Amino acid sequence: MFELTPSAVAASDRLRRFADEVRRDLSASPRQLQSKYLYDSLGSCLFEAICRLPWYKITRAETALLDREADAIVAAVGDPLTIIELGCGSGAKLVRLAEALQRAERSARVHLIDISTEALALSERTLGALEHVSVVGHRATYETGLRQAAAARRGGGPLLVLLLGSNIGNFDPPAAAGFLDQIRAALRPGDALLVGADLVKPEAELLVAYDDPLGVTAAFDKNLLARIDRELGGDFDLDRWDHRAVWNAEASRIEMHLVARGAQRVRIALAGLAIDFEDGETIWTESSYKYDLGQIARMGAAAGFEAEDQWVEPGARFSLTRFRAS
Ligand code: AVI
Repeated sequence: MFELTPSAVAASDRLRRFADEVRRDLSASPRQLQSKYLYDSLGSCLFEAICRLPWYKITRAETALLDREADAIVAAVGDPLTIIELGCGSGAKLVRLAEALQRAERSARVHLIDISTEALALSERTLGALEHVSVVGHRATYETGLRQAAAARRGGGPLLVLLLGSNIGNFDPPAAAGFLDQIRAALRPGDALLVGADLVKPEAELLVAYDDPLGVTAAFDKNLLARIDRELGGDFDLDRWDHRAVWNAEASRIEMHLVARGAQRVRIALAGLAIDFEDGETIWTESSYKYDLGQIARMGAAAGFEAEDQWVEPGARFSLTRFRAS
């Protein structure tokens, strides 16, 4: 008899959940897939590439704001400091805060939470070189990781939670509100939350950011179908799918869709699915909400936070809001 190791059990649970969610979401109307599944190892690399595209300005704008405001951000929270980053990406943004701590001769414990093994490894490597920060990685959903990390706050000191990169924008409004409630529930009065959120801007700028001329975003989106082929035994023919970005002004969100080029039957063995797609039928893969400043402050207030500072990068129309748990 073979016994599965705990990590093999976790991997097979993850695969089963992926198959169950793909079955449910591709059978729903409209057909959809969850954007969290865009981030397998290739998807995470493609997202890193997106962040460097001239048309996708979020990452550079946020880094510029952090470069400018890092001293003020860390000065607003005391010691011994615990920082939790939800969705850590490459760790590059945290380095800005770590440098500010170093200038102030302070230290911190940093908890990185991400569902992508690659993103975690990259961040851990980036931050591992810094002597005044100790790093703990959690390969987990935001909810689970937050609970684990908040329980490990250092010596009763304050928490600074980072929700950067407009990751909040990938939640629908009720889910975003629920998520902010969960963050607040893990914090104590006086703890801090830093939210990076993209602002509404002209439609043409938004469309080119989510459907770039190099086709990197299209590859990022279509990789979700490739992932289903690889991991769930699907037979999506990638040459027969197109990426489309749509600005939904009423809902204030960019939507990413995959569009079937020609009628086709797709089978996904591990999900037990056979679907007949019509020509032009779509699969909705991501929403990216865009905000105004008042809306961001109100979302925080509804969850029990007070907005203490808001900074805007004017070129890209991107914002950082520093909240205090009230
Ligand atoms: C991770 N997230 C905030 C990105 C966004 O802008 O919504 C994901 C993305 N999708 C396409 N390009 C980038």
